[in-house]
Amino acid sequence: MPVMDWSNKVVLITGASSGIGRGLALELARRGAKLGLVARRRELLEELVSEIGSQNQPDVLLLPADVQDQQSMRAAAERLLAAFGRIDVLIANAGIGVTNSAAEFDAAKLAAVINVNVIGAGNSVQAVLPEMIARGSGQLVVISSLAAYRGLPKSAAYCASKAAVSAMFESFRLDLGPLGIDVTIIHPGFIKTPLTAGRRARLPWLMACETAVKQILRAVEKRKQSYAFPWQLAFLARLGMIVPNFIYDAISRRNSLRE
Ligand SMILES: NC(=O)c1ccc[n+]([C@@H]2O[C@H](COP(=O)([O-])OP(=O)(O)OC[C@H]3O[C@@H](n4cnc5c(N)ncnc54)[C@H](OP(=O)(O)O)[C@@H]3O)[C@@H](O)[C@H]2O)c1
Repeated sequence: MPVMDWSNKVVLITGASSGIGRGLALELARRGAKLGLVARRRELLEELVSEIGSQNQPDVLLLPADVQDQQSMRAAAERLLAAFGRIDVLIANAGIGVTNSAAEFDAAKLAAVINVNVIGAGNSVQAVLPEMIARGSGQLVVISSLAAYRGLPKSAAYCASKAAVSAMFESFRLDLGPLGIDVTIIHPGFIKTPLTAGRRARLPWLMACETAVKQILRAVEKRKQSYAFPWQLAFLARLGMIVPNFIYDAISRRNSLRE
């Protein structure tokens, strides 16, 4: 049972055209929330809106934008504010991953990942924050990853981006809590989405997107500061933070999650 009435909430979701963001949009539309949907691929957003169904369509705004572009993000937030008067929840979900061994390290790929996963999340926050501060309420949610906890093989850029975005939102929490704005950092394990679809390595506790979406929304409703799941992988990831490097390195190298 939902613990929150979403029918009077306005939610801005980035990365809504695919995977987790798309799943969140479908579930929140079902629960009656008013939605602003950001992603670059307009045609996928249009397909999503037709899937949402005609009854809820007046409550959904398509906001094609690139999160890397601060002006586009502000324009998207302004359109949502003009339509519904406020933004209660931002879900900064847009993200990309890249697999490559440090032996072929490419700083341009690092920049691309940081620009979407970190700067994009920062642009999304900046787009909604002034009104939240003026109103003295709101919730900033970021979809980080368990990959934020420690460096993983062939994942330097992704791990760096997720560690950065988690730390950034933790700082936001410290500064914005006293202003009435809650911050929720989500650390998922492996979820079945187009992001993980091409992976040949065995992904432990790989979770269906619909299940993940329900767990994320539960954490958002409870205004949790941080939520890591599935619990088995979250437990191992936390254990990984306290074991000595020689143990961590041996286990991580033997169990590379990237091909
Ligand atoms: N799947 C997992 O196992 C997993 C685990 C932990 C964390 N996560 C995180 O969860 C989030 C969603 O991942 P997912 O698995 O749902 O991936 P996905 O299916 O590939 O979806 C990624 C979404 O991000 C959007 N996006 C990418 N670059 C963008 C940009 N520059 N501007 C606007 N939107 C952009 C994409 O839309 P467009 O291409 O249309 O712009 C798409 O809607 C990511 O932050 C990811 O790191 C995923």
